[in-house]
Amino acid sequence: MNDKIAILGLGYVGLPLATEFAKKFKVLGYDCDSKRVNELNLLVDKTKQVDSSKLKNALKNKLVLSSSEDMLKDFNVYISTVPTPVDSKKKPDLTYLISVSKTIGKYLKKGDLVIYESTVFPGCTEEECVPVLEKSSGLTFNKDFFCGYSPERINPGDQVNTLVSIKKVTSGSTPETANHVDAIYEEIIKAGTHKVSSIKVAEASKSIENAQRDLNISFINELAIIFDHIGIDTNEVIEAAATKWNFLKFKPGLVGGHCISVDPYFLIHKAKSLGYSPEVILAGRNVNDNMGKFIASKIINLMKNKSIIVKGSTAIILGITYKENCNDIRNSKVPDIYHALKRYGIEVDIYDPLADKNDVQKNYGINLKFKPNTYQSIILAVPHNIFLERGIRHLRHPEGSVVYDVKSALDLKEVDGRL
Ligand SMILES: NC(=O)c1ccc[n+]([C@@H]2O[C@H](COP(=O)([O-])OP(=O)(O)OC[C@H]3O[C@@H](n4cnc5c(N)ncnc54)[C@H](O)[C@@H]3O)[C@@H](O)[C@H]2O)c1
Repeated sequence: MNDKIAILGLGYVGLPLATEFAKKFKVLGYDCDSKRVNELNLLVDKTKQVDSSKLKNALKNKLVLSSSEDMLKDFNVYISTVPTPVDSKKKPDLTYLISVSKTIGKYLKKGDLVIYESTVFPGCTEEECVPVLEKSSGLTFNKDFFCGYSPERINPGDQVNTLVSIKKVTSGSTPETANHVDAIYEEIIKAGTHKVSSIKVAEASKSIENAQRDLNISFINELAIIFDHIGIDTNEVIEAAATKWNFLKFKPGLVGGHCISVDPYFLIHKAKSLGYSPEVILAGRNVNDNMGKFIASKIINLMKNKSIIVKGSTAIILGITYKENCNDIRNSKVPDIYHALKRYGIEVDIYDPLADKNDVQKNYGINLKFKPNTYQSIILAVPHNIFLERGIRHLRHPEGSVVYDVKSALDLKEVDGRL
């Protein structure tokens, strides 16, 4: 294939995509953040998605990384991997998507293809992005240029399910474009592709993957609250129920990150814009968003049971990233536990050697502890392998501690409470 691919946005999604495509195509990885591009050109990927030898090889071959916009003019396929967060009112924030579409539009030529990978709501590509591309380029959609949508499904921190081993959904604005988009991804995705009939179907498929996971976890979280009232262990109940072939075994926990805790709002937004207010999806979000407070209240009760004086006591929370073995702190729910415990007058430290301390300070106003002491409450919030390997014994206070295990990762004998 003679396509020359420009990938716009070199984050968790864009960088692995650029290095894979560079095995087959001439690729430009463009990011408006010149600091990020400079680091990558020095073989440093702070997202830890692509290791330095892989990056070095790609840069020796067909990959160029740049923050110079005018380099985009030499390419014919543009792939957007910019962020799609929600704003403070939990509405889709399309600022990055609109901005990148304006940039692409400036360089768009007749016959070019624009593929969006960023997570959006059904209809977003054709209703929000295409008008910007048309205005910025002066070209006509589906006559002069074409669009595709292929949602990203990578799972940072997961060494098994990687970009090339996860089947990729593809779509296009015309049947020929869909074939073209599909053929491009077929070149790199070992697991193959799944072509759908329209861009809207592809967009919707991505939204429901994460909304379904959010809801499944919210159901188990609600059960964890009910079983806590009853006084039985949620994990034991789940293990028992899972002996039936059709029981879905989800674990209770905090739901953060920029995907599962965000994407349902895209679907909610679309539904509301069409006059339907979803009840189930919103209820699930509500349950999951309140788990931090619930966990803090459990820790307080456990302290009282052990006659530890709450006010003025010390606590350590292990982990602040949104999930284990990954350094991404976006939309972490751990600060909810931190603030709730502080409101009880507890001195709380957070320790996470995987997270960037400057990012944590900038995003949450929290100074990560460099070297933990001993504590009266020990909360394993994110079970990174390094925590499990080291154990928690060295953190126990000589006069007694409460240990709370959010993800049931420790031996039950070691803990006082878990979700
Ligand atoms: N991270 C994941 O695990 C994951 C998984 C599936 C889908 N997604 C989706 O993929 C998209 C990207 O997510 P991410 O985690 O890679 O984001 P990210 O924040 O890690 O990276 C985005 C990059 O885009 C750059 N950028 C922003 N605006 C730009 C512009 N106008 N032009 C060029 N570059 C620009 C930023 O500087 C940043 O480096 C989002 O829609 C996200 O929901 C992410």
